[in-house]
Amino acid sequence: MRQAGRYMREYREVRAKTPFLDLCKNPSLAAEVTVTAAERLKVDAAIIFADILLILEPMGIDLEFARGEGPVIHNPVRNSSDVDRLREVEDVNSLEFVYEAIRHTRSALKPDIPLIGFCGAPFTLASYVTEGGGSKNYVHTKRLMYDDPGAWHAMMSLISRALVKYLNAQIAAGAQAVQLFDSWVGCLSPDDYREFVLPHTQSVINNVTKGVPVIHFGTGTAALLELMREAGGDVIGFDWRVRLDEAWQRVGHDVAVMGNLDPIVLFAGQDVMRTQAKRILDSAGARRGHIFNLGHGILPETPVENVVALVEMVHELSHGLHG
Ligand code: CP3
Repeated sequence: MRQAGRYMREYREVRAKTPFLDLCKNPSLAAEVTVTAAERLKVDAAIIFADILLILEPMGIDLEFARGEGPVIHNPVRNSSDVDRLREVEDVNSLEFVYEAIRHTRSALKPDIPLIGFCGAPFTLASYVTEGGGSKNYVHTKRLMYDDPGAWHAMMSLISRALVKYLNAQIAAGAQAVQLFDSWVGCLSPDDYREFVLPHTQSVINNVTKGVPVIHFGTGTAALLELMREAGGDVIGFDWRVRLDEAWQRVGHDVAVMGNLDPIVLFAGQDVMRTQAKRILDSAGARRGHIFNLGHGILPETPVENVVALVEMVHELSHGLHG
C-alpha cells in the first residue's frame, strides 16, 4: 500500500531529481526505491514501483502526473466514438521498462522477500479514462455505463485484454504474485457491479498464469465482498471499514484475506497502533491465510518511524502463531 512513497526521505530525494513518470520508466531507480523501502521497513514482501495508469499509454491515453494534482488524462473517453479510438494493446512490449524493473528488483531483493506485481482492475482504470483523473461522484463513468452499455463493455473488454498480457509479462519477468487494485469500485451498487464489472475482472483473473497467486483488492467494498470473491482471486483485500473476521466469514474461509488497518492509525501514538494491530490479528484468529496489511495507501505525511514500528509489532504479535 504505497510502501515506497513520499513519506520516505529516500524516496523524496530520488523524486527531487526525477519526475514521477520518468522514475517509473527508469528500471534501476524504480528497483532502488522498492528495495530501499522493503529493507528500511523490514516487510515480508515488496511491491514493484510502477503505477496502475501506465498501461493506459499504449492504448492512446495521454497521461500526465501534474504536480499537486495527481494524474490527469488529457483525452478522456466519454462516448462510443472515443471508445472506438482506443488502441487495442496487441503486445505489451512498450512497457518493457516495468519488466526490466522487476528483473532488477528481483535480483537486488533478498531471496526470501517475494516480489508482487500489480495492475489496476478494469473498473478503476475505466474510471480514470472516462473522468480524466480522480473523481468524487463518477458522473462521466456511470453515464457512459448506463447510457451506452455496449461502448462500456467494449472499453472494459479492451482494458481487460491488455491487463492479462501485462500481468503475465510481469510474471514472466519475475513477479511472484500479482495484485489487482480496484480502488474506486466501492462507488457502485452491487447490481451494477455484477452487470458492468464482474465479468471483466473475472476474465482478467481467470487468465493470469496458473500457479501465481492473485490478490484482489478494493476499497469501500463492504457491500461488494461476496461479488468480488465471485470475480476471483486467491486473496481478497479489505479496507478498514469492515471487521476482518466478519468479512472473512462472508468471502469464505477457503480464500485468503489481506488487511486491514486504517492507514491513519499510523498517525496515532504507538499504543494505539499496537491495540489496533492486535485487534486485527486477534480477529484473524490463528487461522492460516491472513496477510496483515493496511486497508489502503500510506499518506505522504505519515511518520516513517511509525511504519517501521508497526511492522515490528506485527511480527512480534504474530510470532509463533502458526507453530
Ligand atoms: O507501494 C508501492 O511502493 C508501489 C507503487 C504504487 C504507486 N501507485 C506509486 C505512486 C502503486 C501500487 C500504485 C497504485 C495506484 N496508483 C493506485 C491503486 C492504489 C490505491 O492507492 O488505491 C492508484 C489509484 C493510482 C493512481 C495514482 N498514482 C494516484 C491517484 C496518484 C496521486 C496520489 C497522490 O497522492 O498524489 C498516483 C501517484 C503515485 N503513484 C505516487 C506514487 C509513489 C506519488 C507520486 C509522486 O511521487 O509524486
